[in-house]
Amino acid sequence: MTLMSYRQLKPEEVERIRDLDRTETIRVGYRMEAGSLQRMDVQWDTPPWHENGGDHSFSAKIRYVKDIIALGGILWGALEGQRLAGMTALVPRLTDTMAHLAWLHVSHGYRCQGIGSRLYADVERLAIESGASHIYVSATPSGSAVGFYTSRGFVVTPSPHPELLAAEPEDIHLVKPLQAFKSSVSQGGRVSSQQDEDVR
Ligand SMILES: CC(C)(COP(=O)(O)OP(=O)(O)OC[C@H]1O[C@@H](n2cnc3c(N)ncnc32)[C@H](O)[C@@H]1OP(=O)(O)O)[C@@H](O)C(=O)NCCC(=O)NCCS
Repeated sequence: MTLMSYRQLKPEEVERIRDLDRTETIRVGYRMEAGSLQRMDVQWDTPPWHENGGDHSFSAKIRYVKDIIALGGILWGALEGQRLAGMTALVPRLTDTMAHLAWLHVSHGYRCQGIGSRLYADVERLAIESGASHIYVSATPSGSAVGFYTSRGFVVTPSPHPELLAAEPEDIHLVKPLQAFKSSVSQGGRVSSQQDEDVR
């Protein structure tokens, strides 16, 4: 059995996205209604990305991640041998105090084995090291993505980032306060609550 390794990816390794299979059968979804999260039964069958151009092509995803890199984004990957099994990207500064988890994907055959948790733990550490007090994600409104983030301490933000909300109005916009920041301020500093956090 090949072991999974986790490491920072070089910007040129963005092409490895072609290893990822985004296929997902989604039967639980979420939507925001009057500021609260509503669960719903859905029939969303997400096909794999393809080579034929358009929004759901590999080239569109690679362009998106290159834009993240241009904003100072850091890529982190899970590799089984030479094969990319999962990838995440962190922009350390969405605002002065907020990091942005801009991408997290685990390939279809590799889900529910702890890979997403490990990738997330690695980028959360990077966010803390960069000095961010909070981390933001615009989450796909699927049961798996929303379940993943909420079970890791993210909550719906009352003040979504205007540009990220405009880009993905159907997404669930979530924020998590970062633990290391909370414990450092509890020794004498001041911390704003998650609800106080203004991401504009
Ligand atoms: C969300 C995702 C990154 C999770 O990665 P993963 O490697 O499967 O996650 P792990 O095995 O580390 O952890 C499983 C966790 O995911 C959540 N999860 C997975 N499938 C789920 C489902 N169908 N319903 C609810 N929660 C689910 C659970 O909260 C579970 O957490 P637990 O450890 O507290 O039980 C992965 O499912 C994925 O890439 N999905 C498609 C792309 C996507 O939606 N990305 C997020 C976009 S913002």
